[in-house]
Amino acid sequence: MVLQSTPEIVNAAAAAGKGIGAFNVIQIELAEALTAGATDVGAPVILQISENAVKYHGSLAPIANATLTIAQQSPTPVAVHLDHAESVDLIHEAVALGFTSVMFDGSHLDYDENVRVTAEVALHCHEHGVGIEAELGEVGGKDGVHAPGVRTNPQEAAAFVGATGVDALAVAVGSSHAMTSRDAQLDFELISRIRETVPVPLVLHGSSGVADEHLTRAVEAGMTKVNISTHLNHAFTDTVRAVLAENPELVDTRKYLGPAREAVRHEVSRLLGILNAI
Ligand code: G3H
Ligand code: ZN
Repeated sequence: MVLQSTPEIVNAAAAAGKGIGAFNVIQIELAEALTAGATDVGAPVILQISENAVKYHGSLAPIANATLTIAQQSPTPVAVHLDHAESVDLIHEAVALGFTSVMFDGSHLDYDENVRVTAEVALHCHEHGVGIEAELGEVGGKDGVHAPGVRTNPQEAAAFVGATGVDALAVAVGSSHAMTSRDAQLDFELISRIRETVPVPLVLHGSSGVADEHLTRAVEAGMTKVNISTHLNHAFTDTVRAVLAENPELVDTRKYLGPAREAVRHEVSRLLGILNAI
């Protein structure tokens, strides 16, 4: 199948009141697992590569080209997104490589500067047929501190979307990045109010810290793109740890990465049901 446009699949999900899973790729096994898990249940999916993952690899193109190829070969619709990019140069590189969307993360900037840079990036993306997500309010935890961050103001969010032309908006509603417990308290009333005022699909970040039933409620309240990373790393690493503990002599990396890939595949299928993405 050809690569899918992120705005098309996200807008279709929003119109149908469904969620769409957006899961992070760090190694190639994750791209394979996420695509297989979505294919198993017949749901579209977004594979995303963060600026931090690019820093880990040292460059974007190798992991991006592998991910784009896996997406193109997938029988289920797959889009490929650049996540949490603060570097405009990196965004330009992703657009040139064929990503279907990017996130410009100006959440650390003041409002006016966030609007100015996001609008410039949006123009560039749209000239190339690429979708753009931005963030307003700040979902905490990216620095390792699990504070829920600054909440998004619904009126400011509507003005921000109007001033920048973004296709989707990440909002701060109580979740926090990189939580390993699933006890974040979402503000469902705030999600509904933002949904009523903002004309583009909403994105929930830091969703690993949100319990299953609250993920379902968040989609019902108006969230569409749901970003999950740490929770799947947990499934992957737990499996590696268990296989190595049982087989201390093991040296073939496929013997522990393979089972870890299978564990993520099954968890992705399960999460897509929880998100009403199927
Ligand atoms: O952009 C990525 C997500 O917000 C993932 O956050 O690792 O807390 O699930 P998470
Ligand atoms: Zn995030």
